[in-house]
Amino acid sequence: MTHFLDLHTTDPAALRQMIDSAHAMKAARNGLPRGTRDAEQPLAGHMVALIFEKPSTRTRVSFDVGVRQMGGETMVLSGKEMQLGHGETIADTARVLSRYVDLIMIRTFDEASLLEMAEHATVPVINGLTNRTHPCQIMADVMTYEEHRGPIAGKKVVWAGDGNNVCASFLHAAGQFGFDFTFTGPPTLDPEDAALKFAREKGVRVTIERDPAVAVQGADLVVTDTWVSMHDPESAKERRHNQLRPYQVNAALMNRAKPDALFMHCLPAHRNDEATSDVMDGPHSVIFDEAENRLHAQKAVLRWCLGV
Ligand code: CP
Ligand code: NVA
Repeated sequence: MTHFLDLHTTDPAALRQMIDSAHAMKAARNGLPRGTRDAEQPLAGHMVALIFEKPSTRTRVSFDVGVRQMGGETMVLSGKEMQLGHGETIADTARVLSRYVDLIMIRTFDEASLLEMAEHATVPVINGLTNRTHPCQIMADVMTYEEHRGPIAGKKVVWAGDGNNVCASFLHAAGQFGFDFTFTGPPTLDPEDAALKFAREKGVRVTIERDPAVAVQGADLVVTDTWVSMHDPESAKERRHNQLRPYQVNAALMNRAKPDALFMHCLPAHRNDEATSDVMDGPHSVIFDEAENRLHAQKAVLRWCLGV
């Protein structure tokens, strides 16, 4: 079974092939009128279940549109409205859905739920975000960097803010795609040790630098994300804002990176908290290409999982 659960557990050659395929599929759609399906319909006859236990705009719409562009069909399911949200186990849900659909994408809370789904499903499972990681996002981010600046290998990526799920997947990508990674944020919000260790063991330079102005020097890419994630308690908000304010990506910070540095944010953003609007809408920003590339990158992930 070819699941797409995380970047560090997926063969780097397969990741590379998926990014190349995503670039090719995007190019093939270039200039096609809106409303046109892909010339190739590799998902014809396939039904994909998209399960959300947390809110989503990009993941939901990009998966739905991507499957349809390739000739497949989708059903979007809210965890709360399924028996899953009323006591049925993930394992039983996985067994049942596998009798109906050809692939399951799930956005959930605990990583254990994703792993249980993958263990008991007899169809491929894709991780659409857990509290711990967000691999589909970083596939789009790597694609976006390369589209603008060429190979990401050997570049310096700086993450400013909360060492969260998206940050962990970026660290996995650093190891798998071979780029250097600097984290700048408060010590209580450091990225998880396992992700730091994974990247370091792959031989890339991983640095923790508490001073954001020092961290961004020489950066090819500056990335941030919301200061409060969907799984974080609302009660943590004020403390996090106080802790993270020095790590805001604003024009002064961005100007300390390389002149041609890119700025990314997976969105949704809280404008003028983690990043100022002048950066988000400024010349370094590629945030909307990044959002678009969720579509193309995930189409490649879907094809890889289904072997089509
Ligand atoms: N970046 C991202 O995953 O966005 P959504 O929460 O809107 O899916
Ligand atoms: N870190 C954020 C990412 C949202 C796409 C969250 O988990 O809420």
